Amino acid sequence: MALVAKLVLDKKREGQSLDSAEIREFIDGFTRGTIPDYQMSALAMAICCRGMDERETADLADAMTHSGTCLSWDVPTADKHSTGGVGDKLSLVVQPLAAACGVAVPSLTGRGLGITGGTADKLETIPGYSCSQPLGRFREIVLSAGVSMAVQTDEIAPADKKLYALRDVTGTVASIPLIVASILSKKLAEGAGSLVFDVKCGRGAFMKTREDASALARALVAGAKSAGRKAAALVTRMDEPLGYAVGNANEVREAIAVLSGEESAMPAEVVDLCVELAALMVSLAKDVPLDDAREECRARLADGGAKRRFEEMVSAHGGDLRRFEALLARPAFRFRIQAMRSGFVSGIDAEKVARVALSLGAGRERVGDRIDPLAGVTLAVKVGDRVSSGAPLATLERSSDPDGLENAAAELYKAFSITSKPPEKVPLVLESL
Ligand code: URA
Repeated sequence: MALVAKLVLDKKREGQSLDSAEIREFIDGFTRGTIPDYQMSALAMAICCRGMDERETADLADAMTHSGTCLSWDVPTADKHSTGGVGDKLSLVVQPLAAACGVAVPSLTGRGLGITGGTADKLETIPGYSCSQPLGRFREIVLSAGVSMAVQTDEIAPADKKLYALRDVTGTVASIPLIVASILSKKLAEGAGSLVFDVKCGRGAFMKTREDASALARALVAGAKSAGRKAAALVTRMDEPLGYAVGNANEVREAIAVLSGEESAMPAEVVDLCVELAALMVSLAKDVPLDDAREECRARLADGGAKRRFEEMVSAHGGDLRRFEALLARPAFRFRIQAMRSGFVSGIDAEKVARVALSLGAGRERVGDRIDPLAGVTLAVKVGDRVSSGAPLATLERSSDPDGLENAAAELYKAFSITSKPPEKVPLVLESL
């Protein structure tokens, strides 16, 4: 029976459950182009407002997974996926690190979504790096370099490729069923046998509360397990940006510095989180105790094994790290903001920092917008640091057009709270499941 899209929209708008066939046919029609973007956007908005139950979410994930080819592997494979954060460049360290420990990492990753940056956009600031790879090439890179970070294509997870871009510009990101289906469809289609989810929680995350973040973590782990994968999740704090850089090229620079052994390039707790996520991947995929996996990950980070995997992946994707260095050295417009009083940095509002980075050109307002690779914010301090009046807090940067930089700087200043007492220390990992 032909699906009548308008009836499905009416049903979800009224808060009713959609049946499996309706979900499958809607996603199939959207993937093939017989259901236009405006009807898919309307359904996404109805799902955001009305929700979906567990069965509907599983059906949506399944329909999106099977919108293209599903891969399988005969070597131990794992992947980790973050639900989206500000300054979240962890995949650039974690995935090569797990690969250096002997786990193959087929990683379908995303572009910027809502206020959060996307690993794919960050990687593509490396001149020549292409995240869009034919399926056969993606498989070859995983098996030769040990890791490939690529995007959904018309061959693999095409429904997520189209829906992800629509959600980014239609205010339909922060919905547990849509996030679960989006993430699981990529992860199940790429075929990774073990999945680790980094569920972000706080001001710079789609899930603002512990309850919502825990619910999302449980839904991801349950969905992955019911599809026959091993799975674990961490709920991690996302109130201040992760690390120092928020943007694209500046985040890649920060990740490369960590892979190169520059200890102070990232706060120690963020490096520890990279190691923990990679260790979970290794422990699940190779079936070894977590402590042993942690030790192996620390060793491969220290001896340059992870960096070599990263370099091999970049060159297999066509990227040129020497031209990346030249890009970073290009003249750009910069503006530095300074503390107006002495004290302790007690908060750096990740959402505000992300919005400033977006306004500078680090993200998209419309599908297809071009990103300025150099646009972004680089923090000079982290929460808990002591600052003196006049000390640098952050630098704003963009490739062209100095207009608006001063206004953006004034906005960025509002993201910082400076108090006379040091803030209470809250751990980065809030929950583990
Ligand atoms: N990451 C994804 O891949 N999809 C989402 O919807 C959110 C984060």
